[in-house]
Amino acid sequence: MSRSELNLLVDFIKEKKDTHLISDEIYSGTVFSSPGFVSIMEILKERNDADGIWNRVHVVYSLSKDLGLPGFRVGAIYSENDTVVAAATKMSSFGLISSQTQYLLSAMLGDKKFTRNYIVENQKRLKRRQRMMVSGLQKAGISCLESNAGLFCWVDMRHLLHSNTFEAEMELWKKIVYQVGLNISPGSSCHCTEPGWFRVCFANMSEETLTLAMKRLKNFVVESSCTQRSALLNGTSKRKSLTKWVFRLSSRDHREQEER
Ligand SMILES: Cc1ncc(COP(=O)(O)O)c(C=O)c1O
Repeated sequence: MSRSELNLLVDFIKEKKDTHLISDEIYSGTVFSSPGFVSIMEILKERNDADGIWNRVHVVYSLSKDLGLPGFRVGAIYSENDTVVAAATKMSSFGLISSQTQYLLSAMLGDKKFTRNYIVENQKRLKRRQRMMVSGLQKAGISCLESNAGLFCWVDMRHLLHSNTFEAEMELWKKIVYQVGLNISPGSSCHCTEPGWFRVCFANMSEETLTLAMKRLKNFVVESSCTQRSALLNGTSKRKSLTKWVFRLSSRDHREQEER
């Protein structure tokens, strides 16, 4: 989110005195092109009217995305609100992190040289991979929304649906799973309100696998449009013979009427 969008959110909670703002910054380390990442905490620091707001703004974070460690189940809450921190501290006893995990992470994250290199290299690779996916999709006649962060593309496959429905979206998802061998998330599973959008991850496979996936997807699109075209042509020829048939019938009616 841009600085001005974040400022708008802060303005909003400034007005609404009992509203809290929770900023999920889980993808903060994946921002691979401009605009760069801005934390809500930077916005608060920049403002000189944030006095009554600090204890209503909270940041949540996890190592799942930036470090690719979802299995570790390690996350954090940053808050200036004592009640929130006390509750989170109590809740954390239900999901304690194992000593081995803590030991490994403290060694990893304590190594400043490693973390700096890791973040830079990760962003470089994500950028490259995202470009590969976008151009692969383009070659298959599929577009996606522009993005500058994260591990996913929001892909527009509306033109591949048989009808503008979520049933058709599920049908397409199944076809892509069984015929192409790719499991991409249908938009409905992310609460998208419009059928035909898919969330496609570009970060969980090798470049060779991604190239193969794009090749298979392209073939699928070509085959689908061939099938659609022949169904359409079939429909047209059926319609043509139906027209002839109706015409024959109506001209016979005409003749019969004239003979009467
Ligand atoms: C925006 C966002 N927040 C939070 C999470 C939760 O991640 P985890 O439970 O692995 O820390 C996810 C995972 O998909 C996410 O996309």
